[in-house]
Amino acid sequence: MDIAARHEFRVLAAAKPALPVLLTLGRLARPIRRVPRLGWLVADPVTARAVLNDPAHFTLLGEGGVGHLWAQVLGDWVYELFDGPGHHQLRSRTRGLFTEDSARRLVGRVVGPRLERFRAELAEGRTVDVADLARVIVGRIVADLLGMRPPTDDDDHFREIFATGEELASLALGTTASTHLDPATVDAARAIVARLTAPVAELWRSASSETLIGHCRELGLSQQETEGLTTLLMVAGTETAASAMARTVALLHDTGEQSVLREDPALLPVAVREGLRVTTPATVIGRAVSADTTVAGRQLRAGERVLVLTYTANIAAGGYRLDRDYLPENRQLWFGAGRHLCLGAPVARAEITGLLTALLDTGRPWRVVSRRYRRRVKIPTYESLRVALA
Ligand code: HEM
Repeated sequence: MDIAARHEFRVLAAAKPALPVLLTLGRLARPIRRVPRLGWLVADPVTARAVLNDPAHFTLLGEGGVGHLWAQVLGDWVYELFDGPGHHQLRSRTRGLFTEDSARRLVGRVVGPRLERFRAELAEGRTVDVADLARVIVGRIVADLLGMRPPTDDDDHFREIFATGEELASLALGTTASTHLDPATVDAARAIVARLTAPVAELWRSASSETLIGHCRELGLSQQETEGLTTLLMVAGTETAASAMARTVALLHDTGEQSVLREDPALLPVAVREGLRVTTPATVIGRAVSADTTVAGRQLRAGERVLVLTYTANIAAGGYRLDRDYLPENRQLWFGAGRHLCLGAPVARAEITGLLTALLDTGRPWRVVSRRYRRRVKIPTYESLRVALA
């Protein structure tokens, strides 16, 4: 195992000791294999996409799916909005919510000055914790999207907002085996959601269509749909994006590929794509079988569970390399596939691009001074990744 792969392995193991075992042994599950207690494991990109593209036989609402988790917290209306007819309507209406252009503008407007400060700090010879910075950047973006107005521009407010999203997501920790939440967890999650969506009700009535919430209203989303969507953005778009940002910076350093990138900055989109592929922050996507079906010659019965090992499917092509071509079979499996394909993909790409651009703008190579892996989290990542210019 090379240095980059070794660090990535430790990132996974710190999040959950069994995770690297599952994701490595998952290779044996190609294309699909049944494992006692876990259900069906799927580990190759074509079979993974077949499952994710088949809403007639797979749902995220049943036991084993994220919709089942959220219905217990948010209420039964989730069944309509997350995977029922309401979901199709919601996705059709929100198709243009984030484009590559609007995401780039969002990142430039909200975190451009903060990224410039980061560049300047490195240029002055300071050491900066990029894992912490990624959480602050993501916290700032989410706060803007949700219409939160912290009293000052201090990073601490945005660390707190990030931590709230993380807290909500962490309530789902330990749900690989079951998605039934105990009543105390449901109460805790409901309290966080109420806190998060507090500004949404008022903003939904008054915000201009320039803002995300005003835009949702103009698109015809009800207040409840807007609250549901913003909660989802918070959960889906915080830890995932921060993980990809910090780990991509580490990978460019550990593989030595940063020198290739610095020589040819036109490779930036490849650097971002490879970062998303190799890190695949949403390592596993769960589904429940809603009707009997056959996948790769195996009979799946209604009520069984499927774990799509997206990480295993994406990493099979090899380590982080800037001369790697686009992989048509994988496409962007790190963002899922089918009707639930990540809504915030352009935002995630723009956030990673913004961070790498700030590093490239220093005009010098960076080195990792020290690092710590984040322990017991749903999305594997660094606790700290202290970086300085070489
Ligand atoms: C690197 C960062 C990200 C990764 C790896 C990622 C990954 C994913 C994946 C795999 C799914 C599909 C889940 C499933 O099928 O069950 C998803 C859905 C979603 N993501 Fe992302 N995501 C990222 C960033 C974001 C951001 C920044 C936002 C918002 C600003 C966001 C918003 C959403 C939403 C709303 C959904 C639900 C879509 C639906 O159910 O129709 N994500 N994401």
